[in-house]
Amino acid sequence: MNSKKVNKLKLGVNIDHVATLRMARKTTYPSVLEAAAACETAGADGITVHLREDRRHIQDSDVYELRKALTIKMNLEMANNREIVNIALQVKPDEVCIVPEKRAELTTEGGLNVAGQIHELSESIKMLTDQGITVSLFIDPDAEQIQATAELGVPFIELHTGTFCNASGEQTERELYRLVKGASLAHKLGINVNAGHGININNIAPILRIPYLNTLNIGHSIVSRAVFTGLEAAVKEMLCAMNNYDGGDYV
Ligand code: PXP
Repeated sequence: MNSKKVNKLKLGVNIDHVATLRMARKTTYPSVLEAAAACETAGADGITVHLREDRRHIQDSDVYELRKALTIKMNLEMANNREIVNIALQVKPDEVCIVPEKRAELTTEGGLNVAGQIHELSESIKMLTDQGITVSLFIDPDAEQIQATAELGVPFIELHTGTFCNASGEQTERELYRLVKGASLAHKLGINVNAGHGININNIAPILRIPYLNTLNIGHSIVSRAVFTGLEAAVKEMLCAMNNYDGGDYV
């Protein structure tokens, strides 16, 4: 058994790509509210959406409507941009995860440079925290970034697992080791650890060996699987993979 579990590992389902499908034709379907309800029925612990500056998938109205409808936790991913911070302050999701954002990227590439923007981040973090929103920073498993997050007094990080998920050969073990070290350092500094990006049913087993994990945020692979199985079944499949794991800690 993984003895460095902090609690039962939670699943946050990112439903951005339900909105991607809708925006491909600018229709009113598929409904993100219906998708969130299916995830909730399947046993997901939270719903994650990323309100991007370019609004390529999730729209402002989705965020407001989800806030009203959800009975599980709502996690809003967003850039540290004043317009989006103001929306978050109105919507009041349970959690906000601040991510770096580039217009041309297909998806979030790499973690935030926390150490390089302490001042800019601290203002937003204070405003969000004052509204009772739990703040998380999406970072690579680098000691410098984790230390900077601790200096800011942020309660959560989300470790970027994308590099590990895209790795092959010897790099795979190196990247896993970085995630394990990062999670251990964060835990030692009193920071709660989430993880996400690029996780699918085939690469999740080593991810589950990372200690002190609180929540995994998974989107693209679940929504893709849902094309064949339906969303409820796809979420259940991922929960089953998470819960049946007993491969032990990374040592
Ligand atoms: N966590 C963060 C911070 C992200 O930006 C994303 C992608 O939106 C995810 C998790 C989910 O990644 P994926 O869609 O690859 O599962």
